[in-house]
Amino acid sequence: MAFKVTTFCQDGVAIVGIDSPPVNALAAGLAEMVADIVEEVNEAEPVKAIVVVCAGKTFVAGADIRELGETAAGRMGPITLSAAFNRIEASAKPVVMAIHGTALGGGLELAMAGHYRIALSSAKVGQPEVNLGLIPGAGGTQRLPRLCGIAKALDLCVSGRTITAAEALEAGIIDKVVEKDLVDEAVAYAASLGQVRRTGAVALPAADPEAVEAARKGAARRMRGQTAPLAVIEAIEASSRLEFAEGLDEEKRLFEQCLYGPQSKALMHVFFAEREVGKIPGAAVEALPAVEKAAVLGAGTMGRGIAMCFANAGIPVRLSDQTEAALDAAMAAIRETYEAGVKKGKLSEADVEVRLALIHPSASLDGFDEAGIIVEAVFEDLEAKQRVFTQIDEVARPGAILATNTSTLDIDEIATATSRPERVCGFHFFSPAHIMRLLEIVRGRATSPEVLTAAMELGKRLRKTAVLAGNCPGFIGNRMFAPYRDAAIRCVEQGASPWAVDEALTGWGMAMGPIRVGDLSGLDILREVRIAAGLAGTVEDRLIAAGRLGEKTGRGWYSYAAGRKAEPDSEVEEAVRAYAGEMGIEQRAFTADEIVERCVSALRMEGRKILDEGMALRAGDIDIVYIHGYGFPAWRGGPMFSGM
Ligand code: NAI
Repeated sequence: MAFKVTTFCQDGVAIVGIDSPPVNALAAGLAEMVADIVEEVNEAEPVKAIVVVCAGKTFVAGADIRELGETAAGRMGPITLSAAFNRIEASAKPVVMAIHGTALGGGLELAMAGHYRIALSSAKVGQPEVNLGLIPGAGGTQRLPRLCGIAKALDLCVSGRTITAAEALEAGIIDKVVEKDLVDEAVAYAASLGQVRRTGAVALPAADPEAVEAARKGAARRMRGQTAPLAVIEAIEASSRLEFAEGLDEEKRLFEQCLYGPQSKALMHVFFAEREVGKIPGAAVEALPAVEKAAVLGAGTMGRGIAMCFANAGIPVRLSDQTEAALDAAMAAIRETYEAGVKKGKLSEADVEVRLALIHPSASLDGFDEAGIIVEAVFEDLEAKQRVFTQIDEVARPGAILATNTSTLDIDEIATATSRPERVCGFHFFSPAHIMRLLEIVRGRATSPEVLTAAMELGKRLRKTAVLAGNCPGFIGNRMFAPYRDAAIRCVEQGASPWAVDEALTGWGMAMGPIRVGDLSGLDILREVRIAAGLAGTVEDRLIAAGRLGEKTGRGWYSYAAGRKAEPDSEVEEAVRAYAGEMGIEQRAFTADEIVERCVSALRMEGRKILDEGMALRAGDIDIVYIHGYGFPAWRGGPMFSGM
């Protein structure tokens, strides 16, 4: 047992201290031990009230996710938190929960089992279980609505968002907020109370069918395919109909349905894969000094977004292109993007000025000698990139990282243009670079371990999920994307309509269908990717020949006459039928499941090859690439996760 629970008496108040480093997670037996002690001190005559407080930097930050996973897999006994929390709530003497740091999930459920809650103003609370495909399973769905009403409980549990102590106070989840001296304040508060107040014993919360309906609609729209949001809505709705004990039974039923279902397994896998993804085995080397200044060469679509990534992280960045006109256009576009953020309430005008002041446009390589990293984002052309790398090599300081944002070219070939291939690696951002979380860090043959460690570190500072990839055509993400799209187009050639293919995959949970993605990326660009992957031609070549390149020409697989909305186009279906006839491709009907099976299998097969060749460190890394870079539904765990 890696935790302890201590007791101490101060001014007639028993202080129960939980100490379960590092975040006081509810390891098996901890809640029972707290309940045992609460019962014991109830017997002690001089004790008037009880305060529960946690050691270290936070209150109970949640359940132990590893143990949840073990229970889900049948390797550990059932979860018994609810019974322990009921015993705490049954205390005859007032129990005050003293919250600092974050009380999330099981932590907030423990807090709500106390009779009163006092918190530091810096504390945060929430029920983020949906992010793991779960619902609160220890009374949260029944106590929370009794404290803050059905609508607020739905808001918190469906979104999984974390709220400040001030918001929790206003909502009635917390009773008192203090600035400092939490324990002393809690003791004084507990001593002043005199009577218990059991949340489980208060009247049923008022029914709110409108809020329930709105939550259901919102979840169907924003969390399509996910079961936990619907389960938590059901449990919260039940709190207004069922007495507390029956409500808990209903919660237990729904919780177990989620816990033993496939989505929570998938989301727990993603949770752990995200923790692993930054780790490079054997990379125990001294990292390079942290990057203080950056430089980006090429101020096109990607260069602009990459410069914004640095500015957003507070890192001054030089942005260079061939002409002043190109730079003016880039700076205007960057300002426009930031201003759009202001309109959406995400940034203040002051933020915009601070960030813009960090981006220094220049038509020369002036200042590149001061940069800890130089990211090249010029045209996708090997010779152009090699020329640029030779120039960069001449000006860059000795310790600098020289990175290329190439999406298809060979990092080693680019590195040969420099005198220091050990400093060269790939920094493959995804478009739009300032938004997409994924960043593939590509290891060249000569890339040094220090450079890789520093690159991964920098990725974190840029708030990206950095994944290490080997130097193969398309790296991890695009390499798998080529056969995936190929499988989708083959379904179309064999009789499925392009829209049916997209619907099958979006219905399955992909953010966008593979046919529609083609239109967004540009069919001509994807043809290059396909050729690089060694795949044969498809009917798509006909569309390209007819000038249907995708959204940028107003027509691709779909038509985009009315603004950006993609409209199915019968001309495309005719072109496909003509092609199939000429090529003698037999036509047949497809079910949505079959389309999904074919496309996702193609992803998985290429993923296996990538693993076999050592181009990805772990299967989980590939899952993360697809979830953060390609709109793969996290609740299915990723293409390599075996729970399909
Ligand atoms: P782009 O055509 O929008 O921008 C390229 C910029 O580089 C232009 O502004 C051009 O003036 C500038 N440039 C060309 N030669 C230069 C030189 N010698 N010195 C200074 N500037 C020079 O291209 P985009 O889309 O930004 O792509 C850049 C790189 O990023 C390519 O390697 C591409 O494969 C890669 N990439 C593109 C993605 C995308 O979705 N567009 C996604 C991920 C990577």
